[in-house]
Amino acid sequence: MEIIIQSDADATSITAARMVARLVKEKPHAVLGLATGSTPLKLYQELVRLHQQEGLDFSGITTFNLDEYIGLPRDHEQSYYSFMWENLFSQINIQPQNVFIPDGMAADVPEACAEYEQAILNAGGIDLQVLGIGSDGHVGFNEPTSSFASRTRIKTLTRQTLKDNARFFEGDETQVPHHCITMGIGTIMDAGCILMLAFGEKKAQAIASMVEGPVASVVPASILQHHARAKVFIDEAAATHLKRADYYRWVYEGKPNWQLDA
Ligand code: PGA
Repeated sequence: MEIIIQSDADATSITAARMVARLVKEKPHAVLGLATGSTPLKLYQELVRLHQQEGLDFSGITTFNLDEYIGLPRDHEQSYYSFMWENLFSQINIQPQNVFIPDGMAADVPEACAEYEQAILNAGGIDLQVLGIGSDGHVGFNEPTSSFASRTRIKTLTRQTLKDNARFFEGDETQVPHHCITMGIGTIMDAGCILMLAFGEKKAQAIASMVEGPVASVVPASILQHHARAKVFIDEAAATHLKRADYYRWVYEGKPNWQLDA
């Protein structure tokens, strides 16, 4: 795991965006795995800027989103479908047929999950997966005790996640759907590389457990210790519980230029 600590969320996101942009340039038909929530917003803004001001071309790119609430229609303002179109897809030149987001209204959820896994395979697999982390250590919506071998499936959210996400539902935890479709941990681990983002003190404990704690399904993100190409982009606030933060800073500062955006 490579830990990249920057001063604040904006600086961190801009550094992370360079890694995505480099892949998009080098592999015009790359497959991106994308995340929602407040964490990746600045990353998406920077990708939009790179598209609009520097011509970064998404016309051949395919995307797969991590998760979606069950029971929210696509046009619901809090569906992840709405989130992605509002914050990224409507502002870049991606082709709508290349966008995949789990369908939270699917009549047959297990069948829709199997089809989602097959669509990822058909696209050639995910080259780069963007991830946030829940304050309970989840990735995607793989809550604590999720199987490390899991594939796309239905999950029940924890009380902690319902509380964390209530801010998107007028602060009312009871309005947050309890169930979701999420890529599994096995699905995420199949990605060629992982780009995790985390900001703020609220994420500091989850980050420390993921990076420096034991690999255990009670901290689903800790499985990333087993991924050969996982980069963790965090701000100073999210780094406060890391025991070896100075070492991670030292490593990053000593990197040769040619390694920086890889
Ligand atoms: P957040 O969510 O970006 O809204 O903090 C992250 C997550 O739950 O994975």
